[in-house]
Amino acid sequence: MQIQAREQELIEVFAEAFGLPAQSVDIDVPLTEMGADSLQLFEVLVPLQQQFGVKLSVRQFFAELQTIRKLFDYLHEQSIHHGAEAISDIPEKGVFKWMRRSAEPVETDTRQRYLASFIPRYNQRTGQSKAHAKAVRQRIADSRSGIGFKGTTKELLYPLVCNEYDGAKVKDLDGNDYIDMTMGFGTHLFGHAPAFIKLALARQLEHGFGLGARTDTALEVAELLCEITGMDRVAFVNSGTEAIMNAVRAARAATRRNHVLMFSSSYHGHWDAVLASADPLRSGTTSAVSIGIPQGMVADVSVFEFGSQAALEFLASHGEQVAAVLIEPVPTRDPGLVDPTYLRALREASRSVGALLIFDEIVTGFRAHPAGVQGLFGIEADIVTYGKTIGGGMPLGVIAGRKGTLDAIDGGPWQYGDDSYPAVEPTFFGGTFFQHPLAMATAKASLIEVRRRGIDFTEALNERMRSFAARLNELFASYRVAIEARSFASFMRLVHRENMDLLYYNLILRGVYIWEWRCWFLSAAHEDRHLEQVYQAFADSFEELRSQALI
Ligand SMILES: Cc1ncc(COP(=O)(O)O)c(C=O)c1O
Repeated sequence: MQIQAREQELIEVFAEAFGLPAQSVDIDVPLTEMGADSLQLFEVLVPLQQQFGVKLSVRQFFAELQTIRKLFDYLHEQSIHHGAEAISDIPEKGVFKWMRRSAEPVETDTRQRYLASFIPRYNQRTGQSKAHAKAVRQRIADSRSGIGFKGTTKELLYPLVCNEYDGAKVKDLDGNDYIDMTMGFGTHLFGHAPAFIKLALARQLEHGFGLGARTDTALEVAELLCEITGMDRVAFVNSGTEAIMNAVRAARAATRRNHVLMFSSSYHGHWDAVLASADPLRSGTTSAVSIGIPQGMVADVSVFEFGSQAALEFLASHGEQVAAVLIEPVPTRDPGLVDPTYLRALREASRSVGALLIFDEIVTGFRAHPAGVQGLFGIEADIVTYGKTIGGGMPLGVIAGRKGTLDAIDGGPWQYGDDSYPAVEPTFFGGTFFQHPLAMATAKASLIEVRRRGIDFTEALNERMRSFAARLNELFASYRVAIEARSFASFMRLVHRENMDLLYYNLILRGVYIWEWRCWFLSAAHEDRHLEQVYQAFADSFEELRSQALI
C-alpha cells in the first residue's frame, strides 16, 4: 500500500506538469506520447528531485525511462541501492489504481500504421522545409526546432519555412499556400504586408534609417498612442520582453519597493525575473522555470493563480512591500479566463496599498478594443505594455504610463526658460535600437489604421472569431472529439487533454498554417472564404482520422 502511495505521488507529478487529471494517466504509455512535449518534461525534473531525491535528465525519458512504470521501478531501485529514503517508508497518501486504456496496444499499432503512411506524405509535400531544418539545426540554436519533440512524430518536426507573405496567406519553400492562422503570433492584425505598411517603410527607406540622432516620427507615434489608449507618457523599446523588463523596473523605482505579484496563466516574455512559477511543494515560494535562471532572479516574485483570493490576501497582508501587480488581463494561454470583476478587485487592492497595476497588453492591445482590455472593460492600469501589433511587423515594444509612473526612466519632464530640472531620481534605461526609424514609421502607420478603423473594426473581428470558434465546437461535438475552442477578442486556443498532433499535422497538410505553440489569430485580411477553407480542413482531417480509427 505504501508503495502504491508513492506510485500515486509520481503520477501526480506528471499529471500536474501535463495538465491531466491523475486518473487518466496511463503508466504504460510513453511519457512523450501523453500529450507532453519536451518542455513539459523539463517541468517534472525539479519535483522529481525534491520528492524522490533523484536527479534525472529529460534525455532519460526518451531512452531508458520512457514510461511512468519504468521510472517508478528505477526510483525504487535507486532508493534501495543508495539508501535514500526508501520508497516503502513514505507514509501512504492515497489509494491508487493503475489506469489502463483497454484497447491501448491496438490503438498504438493503429497510430503507428497511420504514421508510417502519413509521414512520407507530409515530408513529400514540405520536403524543402525539412531539408532546411536539418541544415539549420547545425548552425542556429533555436528553441523553435525542438518544440513538441516526441519520438513517434520526430520526422514531422520542423517549422515550415515560408518566404512569401500576402494578406492572410503564406507560401512555403515547396510552393504550397497556407491560410496563416498564426499571423506573427498576433503581430499582423491587418494581415501580411498591408499596403499602408509597405508605403510607410518605402518612404522611410528613401530617407535612410540612421540611429544616434532621434527621429521626429517618435513623437507622432507617442501622441497617437496616448490618444488611442488614454495613457500619459510612453517609452519605446524593441520587444515585448524589453517592455516588461522596463515596466517592472520603472514600477520598482517609482514605488521604491521590490516585490512583484504575477499569475501562472500569464506569459511575459523571456526576462529572467518573470520566468517564475509557484513552487507546488513549498507553498508561498517561487521557483525559476528552468536551469540557467538563478533562483535569486525570482526571489522578489510571487506567483498566483488567475482569479485567486490568495493574491488579494497577499496584497492586503504584504502590500507595503509590493511594487507591482503584473498581469495579462486576459491570458493568451487561456482565453477562457475573462474576469473583469477580478481585474477590478486587483485594481482596487493594488491602489489601496500603493502598488502599481501593470497590464501586459502585448497581445490584447489594439486587438480586444482600440484601447485594449483597458478600453474593453473600462479598467485603468498604471502602466501598460504593448508589442506585436503596434510595430506593424517591425520589432517594437512600448511601455505606457499614467501620471508620473514612467518618470524614473528620464527624471520626468522639465521645461526651458525656468528653473525646472529632471527632478525624479532616475533608474537605468537605454538601448541602441530604441526608436528605430523603420519601427517608428510602421508604428505610426499602424496606429493611424487603428484609429481610422476604430472600434467597429475590433468588434466585428471579435464577433467573427467568436462565431468561428462556436462553429468549430459544433464540429468537434459532431465528431465526438474532446476539443474545445476557446476564444477571446480575435484569438483562440484549442483546449484538449489528449495528444492532438495528428490533427495539427493534418491541418498543415491541408493548407492551414498553425505554429507549434498553437495560439490562433484572426486578422483583417481573413475573409469568410479563408475561414471556410480552415473549417473544411478540420472536417477533412477528422474524416481521415476517423477512417483510420484514430478518433
Ligand atoms: C503577453 C505577452 N507578453 C510579453 C511577450 C514577450 O514579447 P516578445 O516576444 O516580443 O519579447 C509576449 C510574447 O509572446 C506575450 O505574448
